[in-house]
Amino acid sequence: MLSHLFNPIRIGSMDVKNRLLMSAMSINFGVDENCHVTDPLMEYFVERAKGGVGMMLVGGGSVHPGGQELPDLPQMYDDSCIPSLRTMVERVKPYDVKFGVQLMHGGRQSYLPEKVAPSAIPAPAVVKGEVRALEIEEIRELVSCFGEAARRCREAGFDFVEIHGAHGYLINQFMAPNSNIRMDEYGGSFENRTRFLFEILEAVRTKAGKDFPVGLRINGNDYIENGWELKDTVRLAPGLEKAGAAYLHISGGVYGSTELTIPSMYTPQGCFVHLAEAVKKVVELPVITVGRIKDPRHADRIIQEGKADMVALGRSIIADPRYPAKAEKGEFDRIRPCVGCCLGCIHAVLAKEPGGCVVNPNVGREYRLNREDGQVIPRKILVVGAGPAGMAAARLFALRGHDVTVCEKEEASGGLLSLAAKAPGRGELDDILNFFRQELNRLGVGICFNTPLTAGFLKEINPDRVILATGSMPDMPVIKGLFQSKMALVTNVDLLRGKDKAGEKVIVLGGGMTGLITADFLADPGKEVVVLNRKKSFAEEMSSNDRYYLRERLKKNKVVLYKNVNIRSFSDDGVVFKVKGESEAVTLAGFDTVVISEKQQPVRDAKKLEKESRAKFHFIGDAKSPRHLMYCISEAEEIACSID
Ligand SMILES: Cc1cc2nc3c(=O)[nH]c(=O)nc-3n(C[C@H](O)[C@H](O)[C@H](O)COP(=O)(O)O)c2cc1C
Ligand code: SF4
Repeated sequence: MLSHLFNPIRIGSMDVKNRLLMSAMSINFGVDENCHVTDPLMEYFVERAKGGVGMMLVGGGSVHPGGQELPDLPQMYDDSCIPSLRTMVERVKPYDVKFGVQLMHGGRQSYLPEKVAPSAIPAPAVVKGEVRALEIEEIRELVSCFGEAARRCREAGFDFVEIHGAHGYLINQFMAPNSNIRMDEYGGSFENRTRFLFEILEAVRTKAGKDFPVGLRINGNDYIENGWELKDTVRLAPGLEKAGAAYLHISGGVYGSTELTIPSMYTPQGCFVHLAEAVKKVVELPVITVGRIKDPRHADRIIQEGKADMVALGRSIIADPRYPAKAEKGEFDRIRPCVGCCLGCIHAVLAKEPGGCVVNPNVGREYRLNREDGQVIPRKILVVGAGPAGMAAARLFALRGHDVTVCEKEEASGGLLSLAAKAPGRGELDDILNFFRQELNRLGVGICFNTPLTAGFLKEINPDRVILATGSMPDMPVIKGLFQSKMALVTNVDLLRGKDKAGEKVIVLGGGMTGLITADFLADPGKEVVVLNRKKSFAEEMSSNDRYYLRERLKKNKVVLYKNVNIRSFSDDGVVFKVKGESEAVTLAGFDTVVISEKQQPVRDAKKLEKESRAKFHFIGDAKSPRHLMYCISEAEEIACSID
């Protein structure tokens, strides 16, 4: 049991039941054409409030139309937003959670084509478009907009607000020397660069009332050249305390930084805790930390060791809204883990799509159904294949009251995902497999290993439905000289499985995610690796945050990457190819191994047994069509919900 995480805490005038805050996340769904909140966002928060979190923030609350970060975020700049916000607060209130709004202006990091900022300097990454320096009168107007937005939040019934002074958005742009080269009272000295923040804090406290808790999110480090640094945060923090902040929430990173605000699985868990720890030494008010704090025992230790007073969870609460309740009961294995892929959540919203989650297909659909309940006529379900799709389907069928059998032709579960988890830095992919394994165990669903689907087995089980989650296998390309070469020819699957070995100089054919993680797997222990990608970009199916860390690793390990490659022929010890747009062909020689890591093809042999059974057969996951994990899990859960 955890000794510290579930102790109450006083935040300003609020008594909070535990030390967990769901951090602000711009989820980019659940608003109408006026950016007023609608059912999907309301139910998303109700689900998370039910899950037991102590405090919870609506993300991306725009204080001004010109500072909207993304298209589908709630607006706070007009009194017309109040009624729907009030309805959302009323729906959430029964669940004993302190509910707040993060107030923000995107500045040069807004998605809008015309952006404003302290100075006319564009953001170094992610967004494009004109940037105009704000006039003094506009700065004063924006200060007032923050105040008015806070007043609206209070009128709607929220318990608190958080001012977003982090992550390179407008307030942070004023604070950081690299984005603020103003010569007036808002630029230059430390006092001038932080003036906008202090004026906003004062305006918010004046308009919303001095008793209304106002937290501040600021960066402990921008992790970018000439940016805001930890020494600045430590200098600023006592002043914010004196000015009436209810808490300080310490995060890190801006668009284009070397450490990302939303780090992927390659980053250590708790990557920003040291920043909060440094701030905590100079203030008395509650300090909140954030950043890949996945394990409740880790969160508890952070509080116990006095590194922070509260722990903010972002993606862990997207992945499992019931994380707090499960953690409090000590049911750690029952938490559906975020795997740090960044694909369903931040990658989607930055592409202006609705936010979701690779491991939790319910995100954004909470308002439609509760997928684990429901009256069903119990049926006999046979799931073939115990990879992520098969296990996800088996779990939900069992939870819904069906009688489930799983057969797997290999001696272990996990499928290709368990191989991907063997690549450096990708071990967290195993967490989701372990979650499904433990769930099947808890639900009493056994897996028959070393059991391919045969006519005999089908007859013995005599199911009502057969779910084919038989996965995929590498597709061997036909390229001149490939099969005649003296180089060893292996697939990424057999390599990661340990069935085949590579030599010391390796050509990886394929620049998708599996090609790159295989290259990393080989280069990490010191092999010389070249990747040939016949497509125009690398690992498009990965999120940009995840791919960023992988590319950095490949650079460090001196992996040579070629894209837009047209292969002429393989030789006995190498390859001749042309890169699109280049006049000269490239010849590589002295290699001993080629690893095939291009396309996958579905494994569908079992389909032929359908005519021997009364059962209807359904394909899911890679067996339907080889794609990303996100589709495997969502298809699995959809099929399990669709059969009553
Ligand atoms: C989809 C998404 C949207 C986010 N939007 C915001 C935001 O509007 N404001 C903010 O301060 N942080 C935002 N964040 C950052 C999170 O609040 C959090 O700091 C970050 O995800 C790291 O914490 P985690 O590892 O627990 O997810 C966002 C994160 C995600 C995944
Ligand atoms: S999409 Fe990936 S990173 Fe985002 S919450 Fe889900 S598992 Fe975590």
